[in-house]
Amino acid sequence: MITSVIGLQWGDEAKGKIVDLLTEKHEIVVRYQGGNNAGHTVKFGGQTYKLSGLPIGVLHDHVTAVVCPGVVLNPETFLAELDAVEERRGPVEDRLKISDRAHVIMPWHMLEEAALDKARGGESIGTTMRGIGTCYREKAGRGHAVRFGDLYKPDSLRPRFDEIVSFKNTILQALDPELEPLDTGDVFDRYQVFAERLRPYVADTTALLHQALRDEKKILFEGAQGSLLDIDHGTFPFVTSSNSSGCGVHAGSGVSERVIDRMIGVVKAYTTRVGGGPCPTELHDDTGQHIRDRGHEYGTVTGRPRRCGWFDAVAAGYGARISGVDQIVVALLDVLDELPEVRICEAYEIDGVRTTNFPAHADDLAAAKPVYRTLPGWQSDTSGCRRMDELPANARAYVETIAELLEAPLAYVSVGPDREQTIVVE
Ligand code: GDP
Ligand code: IMO
Ligand code: MG
Repeated sequence: MITSVIGLQWGDEAKGKIVDLLTEKHEIVVRYQGGNNAGHTVKFGGQTYKLSGLPIGVLHDHVTAVVCPGVVLNPETFLAELDAVEERRGPVEDRLKISDRAHVIMPWHMLEEAALDKARGGESIGTTMRGIGTCYREKAGRGHAVRFGDLYKPDSLRPRFDEIVSFKNTILQALDPELEPLDTGDVFDRYQVFAERLRPYVADTTALLHQALRDEKKILFEGAQGSLLDIDHGTFPFVTSSNSSGCGVHAGSGVSERVIDRMIGVVKAYTTRVGGGPCPTELHDDTGQHIRDRGHEYGTVTGRPRRCGWFDAVAAGYGARISGVDQIVVALLDVLDELPEVRICEAYEIDGVRTTNFPAHADDLAAAKPVYRTLPGWQSDTSGCRRMDELPANARAYVETIAELLEAPLAYVSVGPDREQTIVVE
């Protein structure tokens, strides 16, 4: 069984919870894109874990957690996270593998991102400031990129470091004269220490996954971000820098998407977005605040309040189509429990024209007026429901309407953060 879990909105759809749930039935859990911009929350046994760089699989003793070539990895924060996990769950040992092809986030990537963000006009993308975009830019530019495997070839890396750091210092000083120049030796030595600590985990993960396929191992792909943040298909330029829709699985892991048996798309029962960019169904009223409060909608990574609004079936439907989902999960349904009525955006009106197509240009999306279908609320507690027939009829109608509009059957409905608070529909 090869399974993939993808967010269909702008991230934070509860992918972490669903990956954790599915981990029981898988032997390998794979992160293949993004980096520590992700924040995946898992709750079980009365404990909460928040992982950014490590695959969720690392929390399970029977699972090998794999970080693939498409990921950008900050070794410093990765190690801190690994230490924290080991402190709580015991040694990870050989259950973690990091691709030698993955790109390394360097200190200048964070500095560059902060300086560029300050210098940029117009609406800010509102990135997580983790050096994600600047590291992916480096990868596309090639000349100054550092891959994980490079850290273990110090003789060829050291002279490259001189050249890179001198270039970066020139750029950074021009952008912000108050910045202290970076010291090549300092950074090099620090990264050699990180590299030594991570050496036991570094592997050719592509070969490892190909062998796992031959051995018919059960593999679970853990998507980060969401389909609408995809660099090619998302709400550009208000996106992340990787293919965070289903399109990214193959590119990031080196495993063909043809082997995936189940592509599971996760949506929230409403919409959230953190950072800049248009969000047609955003609510600036008490209902928006009610959803934010009940859903604890504050960023896992940056703590920023998430923008909240009604479920947008035009946006999520587009996310589902580009990701090619077989099934969907509707999560955080319980957050809507108290509302007298609930709305679903089923079309946009742009310049007086009604459409169910998701516009390519941010200006058109910003001009889109949601056309809503209003459904009665259920005003009762769903957090204890464990079967579809235990859900209030209106709640059931609501999730079924979402599935119908997304043209995909329901796999699970999530009614609380805990692993147990899940309705298995299939
Ligand atoms: P991810 O980035 O997609 O993994 O999602 P996040 O972890 O950033 O955000 C989802 C948040 O919702 C986390 O705090 C979860 O613990 C929580 N959560 C997950 N599923 C549910 C649910 O069904 N109901 C409620 N109330 N919270 C949930
Ligand atoms: P998970 O995996 C929600 C958003 C940022 C910003 C944009 C670009 O937890 O769902 P970046 O730092 O990636 O260059 O920022 O993307 N963003 C996320 N939003 N969930 C995430 O990850 C996100 N990762 C990035 O807020 O708008
Ligand atoms: Mg998150």
